Amino acid sequence: MERISIRHLFKKKEENKKITMLSTYDYLSAKMCDSCGIDCILVGDSLGMVFQGKENTLSVTLDEMIYHTKAVRRGAKRSFVIIDMPFMSYQVSVEEAVRNCGRAIKESGADAVKLEGGEEIAEIIYKLVNVGIPVVGHIGFMPQKIGIYGGYRIVGRGEEESRKLKSDFKAIESAGAFMIILETVPWQMAKDITESSKSITIGIGAGKYCDGQVLVFHDLVGLVEDIKPKFVRRYLNGADLFRDAVSRYKQDVERGEFPSERESYGL
Ligand code: KIV
Repeated sequence: MERISIRHLFKKKEENKKITMLSTYDYLSAKMCDSCGIDCILVGDSLGMVFQGKENTLSVTLDEMIYHTKAVRRGAKRSFVIIDMPFMSYQVSVEEAVRNCGRAIKESGADAVKLEGGEEIAEIIYKLVNVGIPVVGHIGFMPQKIGIYGGYRIVGRGEEESRKLKSDFKAIESAGAFMIILETVPWQMAKDITESSKSITIGIGAGKYCDGQVLVFHDLVGLVEDIKPKFVRRYLNGADLFRDAVSRYKQDVERGEFPSERESYGL
């Protein structure tokens, strides 16, 4: 079984075959994604909200990202694994970015790092790529800038924002990002960008014209109940199914129906 590489991903783009990506944080779900043939697994810092129950992603640490990525890597034998660099682990200086991204790759076993930002991090991306670290960019809505946006919103509407989105894309593409995630941007913008891009575009809330798509695993299986953005498609009512199983277990224990004889050891 051959591991997916950047070369495989570019071949898919060239052949107009869609690239699949899911964001997840643990061994079992990664194993499931891997066995279904998902091309890329992103260990997203969305784990701060989905796994840790926090309000946003800002407090996630590099140690936490490495811990989760190691678990995912164990489950992902074939998929290309990307580690999301947390807030303030790469923005301070080029030196700090190289040190932290280098540590992330060495310790977690990931194939690439993901950084949020446009023109303002182009120099950092350039250096990372030149020391040998593959970089995935992330523009459009950037959750690490939630404080600046003041909430979740669509990015790239209107003349000024669409010009900025395109120039950010070009800046990080030219700096060497081989793949760029476009989050909650108008589909027309994503289409336009993808048609003239050399790097691979992956959309989330960016319409169907990107080279690939990403969703959070827990959204897809319906385990996240509190919020459901327009771009999420739930393929399963996971929360209902899990609740039903837990309720039946509770009932069986309370009624003395679990464990049965078959589920018990004799002498
Ligand atoms: O953190 C994450 O899971 C992400 C994806 C949703 C793109 O950044």
